Amino acid sequence: MTLKAADFETVEVTTDLLIIGGGMAACGAAVEAAYWAKKNNLKVTVVDKAAMDRSGAVAMGLSALNQYVGMKVKNRSPENYVEYVRQDLMGVSREDMVYDIARHVDGTVHLFEKWGLPIWKDEGGNYVFEGPWQLMINGESYKIVIAEAAKNAMATLGDKGEIIERVFITEPLLDGDKIAGAVGFSVRENKFYVFKAKAVLCAMGGAVHVFKPRSTGEGFGRSWYPPFNSGSSCYFMMKAGAEHTCQEVRFIPVRFKDAYGPVGAWFLLFKSRATTALGGEYMVENKAELDKWAPYGLAKPIPANLRNWLMMLDTREGKGPAYMRTEEAMKKIIDAEPDEKARKKRVKEVESEAWEDFLDMTISQAILWAGTNTAPEEKPSELQACDPYFIGSHSGASGAWLSGPEDLQTAESKSDYFWGYNRMATIKGLFGAGDASGASSHKFSDGSHAEGRIAAKAAIAYIVDNKTQPNVDAAQVEAAKQTTLKPLDTFAEFSGQTTDPNVNENYIVPEQYMYRLQKIMDEYAGGVVAAFSTNEPLMDIGMNLLAMLNEDAENLAARDHHELMRAHECRHRTMQADTHIRSVYHRKETRWPGYYFRADTPKMDNDNWLKFVNIKLNKDGKFEIIERKIHKIC
Ligand code: FAD
Ligand code: ADX
Repeated sequence: MTLKAADFETVEVTTDLLIIGGGMAACGAAVEAAYWAKKNNLKVTVVDKAAMDRSGAVAMGLSALNQYVGMKVKNRSPENYVEYVRQDLMGVSREDMVYDIARHVDGTVHLFEKWGLPIWKDEGGNYVFEGPWQLMINGESYKIVIAEAAKNAMATLGDKGEIIERVFITEPLLDGDKIAGAVGFSVRENKFYVFKAKAVLCAMGGAVHVFKPRSTGEGFGRSWYPPFNSGSSCYFMMKAGAEHTCQEVRFIPVRFKDAYGPVGAWFLLFKSRATTALGGEYMVENKAELDKWAPYGLAKPIPANLRNWLMMLDTREGKGPAYMRTEEAMKKIIDAEPDEKARKKRVKEVESEAWEDFLDMTISQAILWAGTNTAPEEKPSELQACDPYFIGSHSGASGAWLSGPEDLQTAESKSDYFWGYNRMATIKGLFGAGDASGASSHKFSDGSHAEGRIAAKAAIAYIVDNKTQPNVDAAQVEAAKQTTLKPLDTFAEFSGQTTDPNVNENYIVPEQYMYRLQKIMDEYAGGVVAAFSTNEPLMDIGMNLLAMLNEDAENLAARDHHELMRAHECRHRTMQADTHIRSVYHRKETRWPGYYFRADTPKMDNDNWLKFVNIKLNKDGKFEIIERKIHKIC
């Protein structure tokens, strides 16, 4: 029996605060919302497309907490962190939001430890820093620890605390200029969900597979960014009409080739060098290039995108492969020990730290080392720039344009950066955190959790001030149901017409749709095949092809629950693609050359482009670009 829309029952959930997503930001939001909701007798509902214990980017575990300001132990201040982020993002960041997270993140880290997350300690009982801002953890079960705390907090609300897993959110619901809820469907049961809420906190992560991945065929799905985050934050908030920022600032990590193992521990903790086969140490040999990207290229730490860029210069010239010199770094650490006995002990420690770094976070990299007979103490490992991802919480910056905290505004910034409730979007009652929140990079896992807490507290304050449940028009719900379930009926109606159900003139299956999207982005928006380079004529063609792809999105077909999810992931990714290419197009300069290079505007232009490029989708379906000022707040 082919599954049809008519097989789905409608389940209605009315709540006060709806938290969408079950990742780091959502778990932080749940903890904080539960506290304030209890005081105010409010209901909180969390909905995740997967199971919170292992959902989102932290699913496999992590090996570090990448944001720790160390206000007490290092005597640093949030200002120091703002300076770091400003530098890394080539001057483009919402300093009020970065500061806001930085002042709260240490407290979040201490909570994680209290909840049971093992943070590495030295013999004196002090945290082991991986680099200046990062703490090493035994993080295989990181996400379970964080999800457990969120669930415990929600349980304190009794029947006013509700967690619904395995429901994929497809569309927002609106009441005029206010958010009113969301719709989605169960990926396991025949249920269409209608959530009615006074406020919605969006935390559905970033996006991968918008660009063609390097891993294809048997390796398909293996990417640095987790395959299950598919641009839903961008789609949901754009469709709600919320303004977005920095959608051009995608992230390209340099990682261990093919299995995407992290490099932070190697570069920062083990102090490894990276070299290219024919070019030498690119950070040294290509240093002169940094002058072109002054002042950011000349200050320390050198921004992540420029570190990429210096490597890319060598690989573009055919001097690759690039290598992480693991053998050299390990030998240096061991040789530094005073005697043979100490050296023997250190060998064991360093070897186990090297393997654990991968086993905690990217198990597949350890498997690849084993499968390719790689002993890191004997030979170097290949490094490679990944395909582009959207992860505003890391070293990218894409996300919604949100209100910042009132107390951190200057006389100049207030009218641009503050409109009532911290982390509220330009749509009333709609909040964002983590990857969903733009221009506040380098918050990573723990900063995203802290930002979730900040946003949830403000969302509850909004609900206390705005007690009336928004109206949800029945026609709007019906239209959203139709959009959500239509791919099932399309498949049921036409699939019998061909011998191969994947090929049909009446529809497109999600897998083929995704390949088309990825080919467009790869070739026209500066993906791997284009060596991360693009220009206006290329993007003109790309945007034209995306418009046609968008037409075909109407004809996506799905044969079961899983494929229905795939169909909507495709639609969500297309919105991410659209906002990205339009933002790159508008910014007529190259500011982050190691993320993308505009060959027609190859230089950074601080006189004209040291500003935000924002984008929104208007009610008539047209995109609008808005330029916004950057304010220094410290
Ligand atoms: P996520 O944690 O990814 O959560 C997104 C949530 O949204 C998930 O629960 C997902 O199931 C849900 N979702 C998505 N779409 C839908 C939908 N349509 N409907 C309902 N739910 C949906 N940070 C560190 O601090 N240290 C590290 O060592 C580190 N290493 C990293 C390694 C990798 C490979 C990656 C990818 C990231 C790493 N990070 C690290 C960064 C960190 O993982 C992210 O900053 C953080 O997870 C962002 O939190 P988030 O809540 O925005 O997104
Ligand atoms: S992770 O997301 O997989 O953990 P990664 O291991 O590369 O990322 O980096 C962890 C942290 O170290 C990030 O804060 C990143 O910016 C920083 N980092 C990585 N390599 C370098 C480097 N060579 N110089 C300065 N900072 C670095």
